[in-house]
Amino acid sequence: VEVTSRVGEILTAHKGMEGSLLPILHAIQAEFGHVPQAALPIIAQDLNLSKAEVHGVMSFYHDFRENPAGKHVLKLCRAEACKSMGADRVAAHAQKALGIEWHETTTDGRVTLEPVFCLGLCACAPSALVDGKLVGRVDEAKLDSIIGGLK
Ligand code: FES
Repeated sequence: VEVTSRVGEILTAHKGMEGSLLPILHAIQAEFGHVPQAALPIIAQDLNLSKAEVHGVMSFYHDFRENPAGKHVLKLCRAEACKSMGADRVAAHAQKALGIEWHETTTDGRVTLEPVFCLGLCACAPSALVDGKLVGRVDEAKLDSIIGGLK
């Protein structure tokens, strides 16, 4: 799909709506799997915002991705309950095992690593979301087997 024309349609569909930036970004991500760079100036102009403002909102809400995701998306919870149960250690292990930082995708395009802020699974912290599936009590060993299973 051509970015400019599809983004234009999405903007038209949200015309006159108050607080439309988030729904617009969600609609664009639903369409393309990420929010393409080329969409930013178009959105900014339409909503009378600067590109930096649009970008600021995108990075404040951790839901939006700037690049296409890999084949699999591994999200690790970074919120309090999970942190108290070793989420930082698990995250460091994931970054090392995959050789990537947050929001990056492995060079083979296999896995994208993203932070998420509470999955509502605090009782089974630390938790993860593997291709949309909730997984609890993730330690280093469990993470290795999760990553190994992502072909
Ligand atoms: Fe991680 Fe709630 S803090 S699931």
